[in-house]
Amino acid sequence: MDMDFRTDVHCHILPGVDDGFGSEEKSVMALQLLHERGLEHSMLTPHIYPELYPANNPESIRTRFAEVSGMLENTGVKCLVAGEHMVYQGIDAAFPAGGSFLTLPDNHILIEMSYAYESQNIRDFVFYLNATGLHPVLAHPERYSYYSMDMVEVKSIVDMDTRLQLNILSLGGFYGNTAKVKAGILLEAGLYSYLGTDLHSLSQIEQLKSLKIEKKHVPAIEKLLENNDLLWQAASSGV
Ligand SMILES: [Fe+2]
Repeated sequence: MDMDFRTDVHCHILPGVDDGFGSEEKSVMALQLLHERGLEHSMLTPHIYPELYPANNPESIRTRFAEVSGMLENTGVKCLVAGEHMVYQGIDAAFPAGGSFLTLPDNHILIEMSYAYESQNIRDFVFYLNATGLHPVLAHPERYSYYSMDMVEVKSIVDMDTRLQLNILSLGGFYGNTAKVKAGILLEAGLYSYLGTDLHSLSQIEQLKSLKIEKKHVPAIEKLLENNDLLWQAASSGV
């Protein structure tokens, strides 16, 4: 990919907290490599899902970030920490009044679902988030295998005031052809708001390097990159 990916809104580079990077050295290496390719800002978004990562909660992740942020930022990439919240039954009760989520800037909150089945409470939960003044951003909808190719179900979630985040590697078919086709459909429909790497490993940087964006998708991707930058700026202006 030869476009300027200056701001990433979704990655698993915070080391040692989830299924992403397992060591500080590899995290530093990843940020160095991405910085060489133009990355300036990274939002680190570890999974927050008690069933799979019982030790992860907003406080523990903030503490971990405080330990390593200096080392990570020595790469030249400025970082902030947020979370990728799995939508599970009872999540609204676990985070009363919505005040304690680990959010992205400007009251955005990154949420995800299982790749195998839809969260039963997804619609109730995005309604709840909006009611508490947060803006839900659904991660990688193109990867949810239970949605039909026309993505009509995703559109209904967007209609409930939900933004969508595209995984850039979906466009290269790295998660399979179905995800690639769905990503194209959502992109051409103008339904995405943000772009993320969802980076979990160094090998995915090789995939990023080899990624070719189809010419017809370039303007839409540039718009998403601009939205990413604006989201970062919202953080630095204290919104
Ligand atoms: Fe992720």
